[in-house]
Amino acid sequence: MENIDWKNLPFGYVPTDYNVRCTFSDGKWGPIEVSDSEYIPMHMAAACLHYGQEAFEGLKAFRGADGKIRVFRMDENAARFRRSAEGIMMEPLPEEIFCEMVKKVVALNTRFVPPYGTGASLYIRPLEIGISPQVGVKPSKDYMVVIFVSPVGPYFKTGFNPTKVCMSRNYDRVAPLGTGAFKIGGNYAASLKAGEIAHDKGYSVMLYIDPKEKKYFDECGAANFFGIKGNSYITPHSDSILPSITNKSICQLAEDLGMTVERRHIPIEELETFDEVGACGTAAVISPVGQIDDLDTGRSYKFGDGKPGPKSTMLYEKLRGIQLGEEPDTHGWNVVIEEK
Ligand code: PLP
Ligand code: COI
Repeated sequence: MENIDWKNLPFGYVPTDYNVRCTFSDGKWGPIEVSDSEYIPMHMAAACLHYGQEAFEGLKAFRGADGKIRVFRMDENAARFRRSAEGIMMEPLPEEIFCEMVKKVVALNTRFVPPYGTGASLYIRPLEIGISPQVGVKPSKDYMVVIFVSPVGPYFKTGFNPTKVCMSRNYDRVAPLGTGAFKIGGNYAASLKAGEIAHDKGYSVMLYIDPKEKKYFDECGAANFFGIKGNSYITPHSDSILPSITNKSICQLAEDLGMTVERRHIPIEELETFDEVGACGTAAVISPVGQIDDLDTGRSYKFGDGKPGPKSTMLYEKLRGIQLGEEPDTHGWNVVIEEK
């Protein structure tokens, strides 16, 4: 793709050649279809448009040093996609079909997988919507799954450089016993206002506090939160956050590297005791956080000296190394895509 400036790609939508689709109707999933259209024909009364029956996923394919294309942990995304669907009463897509669709959509768009060494990757976006025409508030009968791809660069403009975030007790993205653990559109709609407030004030993201007690850290917009203290990697245990696959992977790598992993409540008062803090996710990868401003108290917390901390760097390099095929994939996380 000679006309794409791979090194300066933002995190955004770039049209590609094909997407794949699968429809559930009459009580069964149909065949995987390949489409070259960027549009979805839909009835104006479709359930997703009125009552938000929509779930999505985000995973990535990487071009390795050896030229191979690897998709990272698609089985985990398949399982979470199913859980998200079940969480809002949608028909869950069988995990085998999810994986088949991911392999197909990547194989059909290999010319959009960014070259090794550019820092960019191919973002894979599966989504499911309820499509039955209805006005009553009840689960749809029919569903459509679409998976499209887009080459992307870093989610936070700073990339792997410390970013600035803010926190406030005045905004929640989810309810205590709500849908925070599911990756559904409604959670993101609910986060837009706080996100824009953070952006307008010059922060990359809002760091959410737990919605029940307002005492503990939850997560960072569209990424999980972590802190590092000595040799410990500490990340929130909470029912109102998305179980991040990146975070799960980092916990494993931290253990492999001899660190202690703690998944527990992180009280706000503990923040000042961390050596390093950061956000992690498929889009965010590992984004070091250099400053957290508390909008309610005016207090500012600073971390590091303007550069990513040593432990965050070590974990980042290990994770990227596995994704790019530079490090042995000891946990079997990558699926290599056969190129035609
Ligand atoms: N938290 C939220 C709210 C997200 O949207 C994401 C992105 O997927 C994450 C965390 C990170 O999850 P993962 O590492 O599985 O991409
Ligand atoms: C991801 O990390 O995959 C996300 O979905 C983040 C965001 C773009 C919603």
